[in-house]
Amino acid sequence: MKVFLTGVAGFVGYHVAEHLLRLGHTVVGIDSLNAYYSVQLKKDRLAQLLPKAGFTFFQADLSNRESVDAILSEHSDVTHIVHLAAQAGVRYSMIDPGAYVTANMMGHVVLLEAARRLSGLRHIVYASSSSVYGLNEAMPFRESDAVNRPGSFYAVTKRAGELTAHAYAHLYGLRQTGLRFFTAYGPWGRPDMACYKFARAIVDGAPLTLYEGEGLARDFTYIDDIVSGVVASLEHEPAQGMSRLLNLGSDSPTPVSRLVALLEQELGCKAVIEARRRPLSDVEATWSSHEEMTALTGWRPVVSLEEGVKRFVSWFRAYDLKGESLEKASGS
Ligand SMILES: NC(=O)c1ccc[n+]([C@@H]2O[C@H](COP(=O)([O-])OP(=O)(O)OC[C@H]3O[C@@H](n4cnc5c(N)ncnc54)[C@H](O)[C@@H]3O)[C@@H](O)[C@H]2O)c1
Repeated sequence: MKVFLTGVAGFVGYHVAEHLLRLGHTVVGIDSLNAYYSVQLKKDRLAQLLPKAGFTFFQADLSNRESVDAILSEHSDVTHIVHLAAQAGVRYSMIDPGAYVTANMMGHVVLLEAARRLSGLRHIVYASSSSVYGLNEAMPFRESDAVNRPGSFYAVTKRAGELTAHAYAHLYGLRQTGLRFFTAYGPWGRPDMACYKFARAIVDGAPLTLYEGEGLARDFTYIDDIVSGVVASLEHEPAQGMSRLLNLGSDSPTPVSRLVALLEQELGCKAVIEARRRPLSDVEATWSSHEEMTALTGWRPVVSLEEGVKRFVSWFRAYDLKGESLEKASGS
């Protein structure tokens, strides 16, 4: 496969690229390296990929049509696209909704327009999100559920991406799979997400915000399971002109307080917990059914939250604490 991978310096993109290269595929990656969170972390992920055979990187903005066209005219023999670039994060979509329109809506259309001209293109896999289930209450979330009640503008743009993919499959025959990711976590994770953010707060001795509510839970999915799901779905092409949607989650909703307890255990420090009201943009719980994904590709999640947190903390100690002792890091 020759894969055009968007958002390659991001958390999921980095891991997917690493895996594809290990399997011997060619990866042409693009990323704008935007400053939504640490650009250094994005550069550090890229530094792991750049020496690998078969990897090419372009720093470019996906919403810029000229840049994308120029890259893809140089790589017109791309066979697969994995589209992960996006403005992520539900809460930030209350602060800068325009960033979501540009990256998630405009960026997606620019990519699909360019994809129409790739004569050897077989399949596009793109990231959607569990957030499209929004205010739905029936659990677990299934692909057949109606998704008309978004709880955030981020979710609106992710749902728009699914509808856009459907129209482009219908109009131009592109084969597409949208993956609704459920709370990915693990090494090289995002500092704006719970696992990394909580770990940092715990070692700093800083208060960690836990939203009030008995049912606050997430279907935490370890990054290696996300990657194997992306690759499995990439390999299982739908029919020409078909656009399908699949959940990619662990089917194991866990109280967020359990994540805190596991981090405390692995880091050997107590968290200072500050209870706050849940912002309206955050849903109370997520829970993925992965029946369709398993039936179609044979994929199953294999890493438990206990094991995943252990692996995350081992990376966090080496990367973020860079050998500092926890006592020093927490100032105690
Ligand atoms: N991580 C999760 O738990 C999760 C859950 C649901 C959905 N998703 C979706 O999965 C995808 C990957 O998420 P992630 O966690 O790796 O996020 P991330 O923010 O780490 O990665 C996204 C990357 O896209 C890049 N990017 C943003 N706008 C761009 C643009 N206009 N042009 C080029 N590059 C651009 C960013 O610089 C970043 O490196 C996203 O589409 C996200 O919405 C992630």
